[in-house]
Amino acid sequence: MTDFEKDHEARRSQAAIDRVRSLVGDDRLAVADRISQLYNKYIPLDRDELLREALMGLVASVTTPITGKPDKRRIVAVCGRSGAGKTTAIMKHVRNLKAMASYVDEDGVTIHPVIFMEAGSPCTPRLLAIAGLEALGHTPPDTIRENEAWLLFRRLLKVHKVMWVVIDEAQNAIETANVRQATVIGDAFKSLTQMPDWPVRLILAGVPPLASFLARKQLYNRRTVIPFDTVNADGSMDLIDSILETVVIEHAGMELCLNLDGYASGDEEPDPRKLKEVFLRRMAHACDGEFGSIVQMIRGAVEAAILDSREHVTLDDFIKTYASFSGCRSSKNVFTATNWEELEPSVALLRDDDRAWEESRLKSKGKNATKYGVRPQ
Ligand SMILES: Nc1ncnc2c1ncn2[C@@H]1O[C@H](COP(=O)(O)OP(=O)(O)OP(=O)(O)O)[C@@H](O)[C@H]1O
Ligand SMILES: [Mg+2]
Repeated sequence: MTDFEKDHEARRSQAAIDRVRSLVGDDRLAVADRISQLYNKYIPLDRDELLREALMGLVASVTTPITGKPDKRRIVAVCGRSGAGKTTAIMKHVRNLKAMASYVDEDGVTIHPVIFMEAGSPCTPRLLAIAGLEALGHTPPDTIRENEAWLLFRRLLKVHKVMWVVIDEAQNAIETANVRQATVIGDAFKSLTQMPDWPVRLILAGVPPLASFLARKQLYNRRTVIPFDTVNADGSMDLIDSILETVVIEHAGMELCLNLDGYASGDEEPDPRKLKEVFLRRMAHACDGEFGSIVQMIRGAVEAAILDSREHVTLDDFIKTYASFSGCRSSKNVFTATNWEELEPSVALLRDDDRAWEESRLKSKGKNATKYGVRPQ
């Protein structure tokens, strides 16, 4: 698609949205705009430092001559479960790096040095190469073969002066791959990042099978893995509390009015700090400890309060948000049930088989699950 066609399409989409905006009342529009502002805020964590450093390494590595030697700065992989915040973090940091911004070259052509693509599901090595070609704006013939597609992709990256390729949901390319396909993908990643005449670096995002895949010998010395861990380990309560305050007070400009007396046990005078901790633990459990899911849950509660024309967020907003995200029966709501720790959290973002995949695969080989940073065997 040419730039003119893209502009034209963007204008048409905006016109359609503007039309709906003109039909919605001012009050509703103000609410919608307030909610969308809330969703645009970014909360940095320590892991953002690591990711930024790794991406800067990826940029710097482009300037060093290509040798056959492996270099940890060729591939950066963000690994974490669904809802951890991988895609959001990559988009945020890529946008902030000047070297990755679009520019007009000496021939007057607009260059986009980064392309974003997603490994579809199911995905084969051939389909991955086709996704890459499509991200470059090309429609390859239906009959294109796997090796032709990879050759063309590599050649066109150079033609379009693309130096960084983001592959989201990268686990799709390997999750169901047989040994041959996994080797093809491994080789493709390796050869993409060591083309003699053009530097290409990869940014991958995916759920844990990706970390195990990158531990293979072919790639181990060429990649840096940034784990996006869960936040429900003991000791993360302060972090969850600060996310809660940041979203409700700082981002939404609202107050927190949580009546947590229902969480008190026995006849003792309830200790507000302990009650708050119970609430935070329930929230961590509801979101299976995934940072992005926690942010979404809090935003959902804020949204419920805004739609109810309140300037304060209540426990009821969280109860309703969990119910609508999970579709659970009221007796199974993690924010109300007494046996909440035994309930399977079922927020919309959760993908149960993330860890199961890795564990079952390794168990079938008689090994324990690989931890981040463990050397290949
Ligand atoms: N640092 C952050 N600050 C604010 N919101 C965030 C942040 N990280 C994630 N979120 C929010 O959390 C939600 C989930 O994040 P995201 O889609 O990036 O997760 P993911 O790890 O890519 O999940 P999946 O594997 O399902 O694609 C999004 O709605 C996003 O807006
Ligand atoms: Mg994602």
